[in-house]
Amino acid sequence: MPLVDPPSETRPPGAATVQACESVRVASPVMRLLDVAFGHPHGPLGRLGAALMVRGNVEQETWAVEHAGLHARLRVLVVGHGPGVGLVQAAAAVTPGDQVIGVDPSPLMREPAAVRCAEQIVAGVIELREGTAEDTGCPDASGDAVVSVNNVMLWDRPAGFAELARVLRPDDRLVITVHRHVLDVPADQLVANATAAGFIDLQTSLRPRKRNSPAG
Ligand SMILES: C[S@@+](CC[C@H](N)C(=O)[O-])C[C@H]1O[C@@H](n2cnc3c(N)ncnc32)[C@H](O)[C@@H]1O
Repeated sequence: MPLVDPPSETRPPGAATVQACESVRVASPVMRLLDVAFGHPHGPLGRLGAALMVRGNVEQETWAVEHAGLHARLRVLVVGHGPGVGLVQAAAAVTPGDQVIGVDPSPLMREPAAVRCAEQIVAGVIELREGTAEDTGCPDASGDAVVSVNNVMLWDRPAGFAELARVLRPDDRLVITVHRHVLDVPADQLVANATAAGFIDLQTSLRPRKRNSPAG
């Protein structure tokens, strides 16, 4: 399916776009270990997970930032940023003077993200907060784009999509990418959740596994 959005003038006012990307599903017992390392990171396994995410998910973070069209964005929300690779990429993509807000519920993830983004935090380009997709702490219509890499499977999805619809301004964009092996529902379910929250022009794509990704 196409990755490129239709022109914004074809979208009705008050609507945002979601793009989702998935790779390949594997057996569910693995997911319990993955959750300690990656989903709700804690302890030594969580620290190992952070190190693996830095190396393993770069390509996905790049894809998400590229598809968010951040060059024209004023305020970007990065949900579930983990160790912060995508935050750095988003900060590099925005126009000078724009802002990137990162929210993640895990102190174990916010800590390395703060170190990785120290320069951009001091410069006022990046701000990190405790938060989730379901509760970002952002005001209504305060965001111009939202990026989520490998965390939609952890959301209360109806609540998460509703929160992001509240935070985004009309005609703006939500980009989600997730490894297929950690997504416990069909991609159609994400589309249904997003639609119920008011998102339109939904596009999904299945991408091949990549060499620098744990999923590929
Ligand atoms: C697998 S990591 C992904 C991190 C990074 N985006 C990447 O792909 O390398 C999942 C992240 O989502 C965070 N998370 C957990 N529950 C969340 C929620 N409800 N909303 C947003 N993020 C959440 C975790 O703390 C963790 O940092």
